[in-house]
Amino acid sequence: MQEKTLCRVCGGLVREFVDFGRQPMADAFVEPGQLADDFVYRLAVGVCAVCSMAQLIEEVPNELMFHEEYPYRSSGSAVMRAHFAQIARQFMDRELRGPDPLIVEIGSNDGIMLNTIASAGLRHVGVEPCDNLARLAERNGLSVVNRYFGQETAERIAAEHGSADVIFSANTFSHISDVDGVMRGIDALLSKTGVFVFEDPYLLDIVDQTSFDQIYDEHVYFFAAKSISALAARYGFELVDAERLAVHGGEVRYSIARAGVRPPTPSVQALIAMEDLRGLTDEATLRRFAVNTARRRDELVDVLHGLKARGKTIVGYGATAKSATVLNYCGIGPGLLDFICDSTPAKQGRYTPGSHIPVRAPEHFVEARPDYALMLAWNHASEIMEKESWFTEGGGRWIRYVPEVSLI
Ligand code: TYD
Ligand code: ZN
Repeated sequence: MQEKTLCRVCGGLVREFVDFGRQPMADAFVEPGQLADDFVYRLAVGVCAVCSMAQLIEEVPNELMFHEEYPYRSSGSAVMRAHFAQIARQFMDRELRGPDPLIVEIGSNDGIMLNTIASAGLRHVGVEPCDNLARLAERNGLSVVNRYFGQETAERIAAEHGSADVIFSANTFSHISDVDGVMRGIDALLSKTGVFVFEDPYLLDIVDQTSFDQIYDEHVYFFAAKSISALAARYGFELVDAERLAVHGGEVRYSIARAGVRPPTPSVQALIAMEDLRGLTDEATLRRFAVNTARRRDELVDVLHGLKARGKTIVGYGATAKSATVLNYCGIGPGLLDFICDSTPAKQGRYTPGSHIPVRAPEHFVEARPDYALMLAWNHASEIMEKESWFTEGGGRWIRYVPEVSLI
């Protein structure tokens, strides 16, 4: 008998719809000589029958994930650098126009967004729990608080700097199990007319593309307009805008404000109506997603084994956090992929968690000239394929598995 899982947002009953079994932490790259993974947990997702928030069944403690050695750098992609420069400029044009405005970013990583704000001489505070990232951003001239965001941190920032006109967060809110702490923090820190803007992977895109690898330890929640609207309302806030984004495999940029302060744009009702029409958060829809996930795995494994049987060489491209779920769930190890190349120095020379495939610098990709490359960083596919255009020009082929298994 499985224990009941209660919703982290509303306390309602969470119904499980997909189970990937025991999995390592997605960003816990293994050092040479370290034989086993330090920690495994059961990776499974359910949906709340009351507020419709999709969420992990089991969670990994924060301190094990976000620490001194957290390897992810937001600035590794040129497309993402342009994306965050654009939203920063939009904030400056539309929101940060009063006298001496303040913007706070939750999960400021290496400063990819705040750089633009700081260059314009505007007041900003980054909140970043990973010491290495906080230090890196500070070295680049940003003002950073090296803490987790929650009510206490928010109150400290408000006491020191006053209330914030904008609070922004990209690919972070959905990582924070303690939604209550975040929302109390927003309430303590946001000005009366301010806006909290966050962007995270969209459940509808995950279901539509069967991008099951968006599911891993750091992604505690899988947001939809409907669940975010319900969440905001519980704290006296309101969802006032919801904009679909193409980045990271499909996201939504949500804007929430204190209830009644900003008229919601038509996009909010339109998105919720579409989700309802599609039955997005219905258990039946999500169980179908689980069936599609198993089918996608079988297709990918067949292709890889088929190529290997014909003596082809295959490497992986992009040691993403997402790849941990694909590699471990599909049983892809060093027997199938010779190595995975990745531009992140902190990942190079290590092994992928669980699957133990060596991670090497992209130069090794050029040197090895493999027959096939599995596109693990599929959310950056255009950028990478353009950069590595020599690969297909020389007869190499990319293997995709999102939105379907295909050879390019
Ligand atoms: P990403 O998909 O952004 O996130 P996550 O780890 O959350 O799944 O990770 C992209 C990875 O791909 C990152 O480790 C850097 C790597 N990468 C390259 O090696 N070369 C590139 O040109 C780009 C854009 C990314
Ligand atoms: Zn709920």
